[in-house]
Amino acid sequence: MTPITCNEDLRQLAMRRAPRAIFDYVDRGSYDEHTLNGNRRALDALMLRQRVMIDVDQRSLATTMAGEAVSMPVGLAPTGLTGILHADGEILAARAAQAAGVPFTLSTVSICSIEAVRAAVEKPFWFQLYVMRDRDFAASLIQRAKTAQCSALVLTADLQIQGQRHRDIKNGLTVPPRLTVGNALDLLRRPRWAWGMLRTPHRNFGNLAGFISGGGKGMTTLSQWIGSQFDPTLSWQDVAWVRSLWPGKLIVKGILDADDARAAVDAGADVIVVSNHGGRQLDSAPPAILALPQVVAAVGDRCEIWFDSGVRSGQDVLKALALGARATLIGKAFLYGLGAMGERGVTTALDLIRRELDVSMALTGTRDVREIGPQVLWRP
Ligand code: GLV
Repeated sequence: MTPITCNEDLRQLAMRRAPRAIFDYVDRGSYDEHTLNGNRRALDALMLRQRVMIDVDQRSLATTMAGEAVSMPVGLAPTGLTGILHADGEILAARAAQAAGVPFTLSTVSICSIEAVRAAVEKPFWFQLYVMRDRDFAASLIQRAKTAQCSALVLTADLQIQGQRHRDIKNGLTVPPRLTVGNALDLLRRPRWAWGMLRTPHRNFGNLAGFISGGGKGMTTLSQWIGSQFDPTLSWQDVAWVRSLWPGKLIVKGILDADDARAAVDAGADVIVVSNHGGRQLDSAPPAILALPQVVAAVGDRCEIWFDSGVRSGQDVLKALALGARATLIGKAFLYGLGAMGERGVTTALDLIRRELDVSMALTGTRDVREIGPQVLWRP
C-alpha cells in the first residue's frame, strides 16, 4: 500500500472499506451541499503568511481546552453512528484520542454506550447531549455522564430538526444496517467491516437501549428517530435547565451568529463551538470559518471559542486559530481514519494534523500554538 500522507488518503481507504451507506452518511452534507462545499472553499481561500529567518527550533503545540491540558488544540467532535462505520468505533476513537492527548466526545446517538466507552479508557471523556422531548430521559443521560465522570458536557444547539441528507434516504441508512437486495453486494464486499460487526455486541444506539421504540431492537433510520424524539421547542431557558443539572464545563456547539453567541454565554456556556454541523444542517448557511470572527468579536472576552466544520489538516487548524478560535474539533477527519484502519487510522489522522500544524507553524515563524493570531494570515 502506498504511504498515507494526508487525510484524503484515509478518506479513499475508508470509502473502500466501509459500507457505502455509512461512508456516505459520514462524508456528505445536507441538501445541495452548498455549505459542505463552502466550508472547504472558504478554508482553502485563506492564505498563510510565510516568515523566514526566525529560530523555530523549539516548538510547542500544547494548550488547554475547557481547562484541560491537551497536546494540541484539536478534539474529536461528537459524531453519530461511529460504531457502525467500524465495529466498536467509539471505543477505538476514544482510545486513540487518549493516547494522543486530545479530548474525545461521545455522541448521544453513538453505538457504544457511555458505560462501554468509560470501561475502555482511563481518562474521562466528554459527553454530547441532544435534548429529547422526554426531559426525564435527557436528565437521565446527564446523570449517566456524571456517573461516568465525563469532564464536560457538549450541548448541540443546531440539530433539533434535521436537515435532509439526500444520500441517507437514497441509501436506506438504518441502524443496525439492514441487509437488502440493494446493499447485499456492497456489504459482502466489505468482509473486514462485516467480521468486526459480527463479533461486537455493540450494534445499536448504545445510549438509547430501552428508550427507542421497539426497546432498542427495532431498525430505525436516524432521521425518523430524530424527527420523533428531539424536542423542537428547545430554547435558551432549556439551556439554563441543562446548566442547572450539569455543574461541570458546558460547551454549546452549533453557533454561527453573534446574537446566539451572546445568548449562549448568558445561559451559562463556558465554551462556544462555532459550527454549521459540518455542512449537515442549514444548507446555504455561511462557511463556519467566515462566521468565526463575528462570534469572537461578540463574546471572545467572555468564554472560550472553538471552531469546527471543514477542518481536515493542520493548516486548517492554524487558520481557525488565526481567526480567534482557541481550538478546533474534527469530525470527518478522524472518521475517515476510523473507517480506513480502526484505532490505528484515528491515530494516523491525528498524527497527520499534528505534523501539519507543527510544520506550518514553523513556516509562519511561530513557536508556540498559543501565540497564533491574525499575524499568521497573509493579507493582500
Ligand atoms: C448527527 O449529528 C449528524 O450530523 O448526523
